[in-house]
Amino acid sequence: MNVEITFLPSGRSVIVRAGTTVLDAARKAGVPIRTRCDGKAACLMCKVTMPHSSSGLTPLNDNERRKLAGLDRSGTRLACQARVFGRAVVEVPEDPFRAAVRKQMMRQAEDDELW
Ligand code: FES
Repeated sequence: MNVEITFLPSGRSVIVRAGTTVLDAARKAGVPIRTRCDGKAACLMCKVTMPHSSSGLTPLNDNERRKLAGLDRSGTRLACQARVFGRAVVEVPEDPFRAAVRKQMMRQAEDDELW
């Protein structure tokens, strides 16, 4: 069975086989998700959030629940552990380096407007 997953904020969607990890689906969609452990639930860099309470993702496994230490209550999942089994939408946080550059550029633009 194939299922669709959409990644926010880009809005990119991809059809994958049910049981595919969110991380692998993101790679297929060309959506970058940071990882250092390559999907071994060790680096905790692949956090994504579910903007809607309805989820097409598998329930947390014990390892993911332990690693998230309560963050799962706010909809956070590890992309390398969560698997897609139905229509799903997940939000990928902005890369921290990109976010810092974007903020710096916005500050610079504001300063330029003052002159
Ligand atoms: S890729 Fe490292 S924890 Fe998910």
